Amino acid sequence: MDEIRILGICGSLRKGSFNRRLLQVAREELPEGAQLELADIAGIPIYDGDVESAGLPATVQKLKQQIRTADALLIATPEYNYSVPGVLKNALDWCSRPPQENPFRDKPLAIMGASQGMLGTARAQYHLRQIAVSLDLLALNRPEVMLAQAESKFDAEGRLTDATTRELVHKLLVALVVWTRRLHIP
Ligand code: FNR
Repeated sequence: MDEIRILGICGSLRKGSFNRRLLQVAREELPEGAQLELADIAGIPIYDGDVESAGLPATVQKLKQQIRTADALLIATPEYNYSVPGVLKNALDWCSRPPQENPFRDKPLAIMGASQGMLGTARAQYHLRQIAVSLDLLALNRPEVMLAQAESKFDAEGRLTDATTRELVHKLLVALVVWTRRLHIP
């Protein structure tokens, strides 16, 4: 396995999203031998079984293909009402269809998240881990990157000012690369 190709998925559609900024930090903190591409879930319609029966939307097909060709996934999720945002769940639901073509199967996954609350997406992340079981993703346990009170951790230009979080993101990426190589069967 040469360079590890990581696909980043942001659970927020907002341009100024703290989670998108966290993915930018991940890009800056990539270890040697890894690359990070960012997926776009903005154009994915609301799941509808009738639409699925007529054929998967092009946006879903594209994301499925990106997942299929990635060696690992990195999801940055906000927390909405103690869980993952509907847009993220919707994108994951679409990509899990049809079940016999599940692109997530045996794919290494790292999770991180930023919220304005005190728990830094902890509750959403544990919901995401539960969803990952259904998708057959292989979620990395540690380190847990849960950025609380995110609005106070970025400057006016959107750059992360919190050194501890930056270091943690770096450690998460290093662990994801090790995890991906460990799971890879040549
Ligand atoms: C929130 N927010 C939020 N924060 C939190 O820590 N726990 C929560 O349960 C919720 N619930 C919630 C619900 C809804 C509908 C919204 C829109 C927001 C606040 C959230 O952390 C904040 O909006 C983040 O900035 C969202 O992430 P992005 O968009 O900055 O990546």
